[in-house]
Amino acid sequence: MPTQVRNASVLQIEKLGAYYRLRVVAPAIAEAVRPGHFVAFAVGGADGGLLLRRAFSVYAVGGGGSAGGGTVDVIFSVSGAGTRWLAERRPGDRLDVVGPLGRPFPLPVEPARCVLVGGGYGAAPLFLLTAALRKRNCRVDMVLGAATESRLFGALDAKRVSDTAAIATDDGSAGVHGRVTDALDPYLERADVVYACGPMPMLAAVTKRALAEGIPTHVAVEEAMACGLGVCMTCVLPVRGSDGVPHMVRSCVEGPVFPGDRVMFDDVGTIPAGAV
Ligand SMILES: Cc1cc2nc3c(=O)[nH]c(=O)nc-3n(C[C@H](O)[C@H](O)[C@H](O)COP(=O)(O)OP(=O)(O)OC[C@H]3O[C@@H](n4cnc5c(N)ncnc54)[C@H](O)[C@@H]3O)c2cc1C
Ligand code: FES
Repeated sequence: MPTQVRNASVLQIEKLGAYYRLRVVAPAIAEAVRPGHFVAFAVGGADGGLLLRRAFSVYAVGGGGSAGGGTVDVIFSVSGAGTRWLAERRPGDRLDVVGPLGRPFPLPVEPARCVLVGGGYGAAPLFLLTAALRKRNCRVDMVLGAATESRLFGALDAKRVSDTAAIATDDGSAGVHGRVTDALDPYLERADVVYACGPMPMLAAVTKRALAEGIPTHVAVEEAMACGLGVCMTCVLPVRGSDGVPHMVRSCVEGPVFPGDRVMFDDVGTIPAGAV
């Protein structure tokens, strides 16, 4: 069962270019987090009228903090009322947070050559993943993309923590001028597995490229969610089961990480014929 911390205190909130990094003290969550897990914050305060929790991938966990407990970091951009409210939190404020939620990225049993692809803030969960893979003596190549340089997340850190890091921007303001898939090909030649997190079209394109080379992918989807706990069915996604039949699965509990070849990208947002 996920832990619910009703009184997690904000330790730090920092603006990093287009994004905010929010660090809360939540030792029980920090201890249980694996790469690919997410947490969900109640937003808006008691009278704010924002009923649904907002989900964020875990970017980092730490062991310290002046409050003495483990910390959990998330990265977010302001996209609506909930994230605007979160961006206004200050150290010492109290937050209600549930986590860790979802299924994490599966890790290779043997040392493997791993390519990690992140789009925008989708790069955030790849840093915990990189640390876990390197602990297992895996090679890690990162390919990060965004619409423009200011929307890249973690480009400098990626160079520091991975074996190599490539950047692509749609407008050419940093790195390769084009989509992440334009920078991906040289890495696929020497990859055993691809991990990806970002917008759905990016996950579809990365999966298609990797599959063409016979390389398995694990993709972390960010379907809109309401409860985050498997109750409301808001987050269902068509996924082809091992029986070959489309299944409508809840991405909050059965995901957010799925084998890319199972996600029916062309049918997302619909219920395919014959779906279970
Ligand atoms: C598993 C998971 C992990 C996520 N991780 C992050 C993260 O690390 N950083 C981050 O900034 N956001 C992340 N998101 C997206 C974030 O939860 C939403 O953007 C959130 O709804 C914003 O709340 P809001 O009230 O500010 O905006 P809302 O009013 O809820 O929405 C504002 C705009 O964002 C769009 N939106 C809502 N949900 C999503 C979504 N899931 N994906 C893309 N667009 C959405 C809406 O359609 C609308 O246009 C994640 C979502 C999921 C499900
Ligand atoms: S968000 Fe409610 S079931 Fe997934």
